[in-house]
Amino acid sequence: MEFNGDASSVTLTVVDDEPLVLDMLVRAARSWRYECQAARSAEEAIKLLETRLTPIVVTDLNMPDKDGIWLVTEVHRRWPEIAVIVVTAGHDSDAAIKCLNAGANRYFLKPIKLDEFRHALESTLQTYRLQREHEFYRQNLERTVRRQTRQIRRNFMSSIDSLVRTLEARDPYTCGHSMRVRRYAIRLAEALHLDKKTRRELSLAAKLHDIGKIGVPEAILNKPDLLTEEEFDVVRAHPVIGERILAPVVRNPRVLAGIRGHHERIDGRGYPDGLAGDDIPLLARLLTVPDCFDALTTARAYRPALAVMQALDVLREGSGKQFEPHFVNVFVDLITAGPPLEIVHPIGYDIHSNNNGLPVTLPSSKILTKD
Ligand SMILES: [Fe+2]
Repeated sequence: MEFNGDASSVTLTVVDDEPLVLDMLVRAARSWRYECQAARSAEEAIKLLETRLTPIVVTDLNMPDKDGIWLVTEVHRRWPEIAVIVVTAGHDSDAAIKCLNAGANRYFLKPIKLDEFRHALESTLQTYRLQREHEFYRQNLERTVRRQTRQIRRNFMSSIDSLVRTLEARDPYTCGHSMRVRRYAIRLAEALHLDKKTRRELSLAAKLHDIGKIGVPEAILNKPDLLTEEEFDVVRAHPVIGERILAPVVRNPRVLAGIRGHHERIDGRGYPDGLAGDDIPLLARLLTVPDCFDALTTARAYRPALAVMQALDVLREGSGKQFEPHFVNVFVDLITAGPPLEIVHPIGYDIHSNNNGLPVTLPSSKILTKD
């Protein structure tokens, strides 16, 4: 419903069960260039409004059957933007107050004085016009804020993408790890019938889970020998570093908790907090299965990649100790019985099929195992 501010274009709905009063109000309003539709009852008024909404409804309070309070309530419920003026007998102030409480904008008393009626219409129209303008600006502002928020989010996500790529470029063995973990995690979440919100959160947590490795020196990341205890301590800090880096921009606490907890173990022997069982956040418990699977099926500087079946055996062995048993079962089924997972491999890396047809990404010059 649009109103351009000119009284001549405004349609009023006037409602009164007394034909003489109705006729007088309509004639008066028309003489002031208000276009009118007239109803003899509250229900007839609703029918008229269903066909043609008007910015203002003027209604008698006391009508047989459905009265003015019913009409005000109904109009306010269905079309809250419509302004309602109630005409009431002077002694009926309680009912008039009820009308105001039900959403009427104003009332004036019988016997009707035309100059009062005209004033009520003009000022109601003025208020209506201001409210519409305010609403228009508010909606515009909300649209702009939503657009800018989407843009900021897009910018943020593309910065994060390049941060993840930069991180993985430092360590050729984990190249593409985050994207693969994300794909496995999404498939796991789908197989578990998790809701859309959780799937979206898991997808983001998977993409970002190792971002804290940016704080781990390359010499440690690419060390071909086993790490010393001190070096392990540095690596073990990466979930907390990741959470700290992302906290100012990822305001979803479940995603942050998933990142912080992706090296926790069901038996409580993980890090950084040594949480056990259901105390480990859901996203972390989910993430750890595909994370571990991808780590096992890709080569590292210090060991070759495992075959898919060997990696699944490791997951099964860790079920109930490192991993949530149900998640392992579903993941194993997914890998052994599901359609092959699509992997996008980085340039300079080859895809090798394992004995289950599952693609494994290895640097072209460093194929350490062939399944
Ligand atoms: Fe990690």
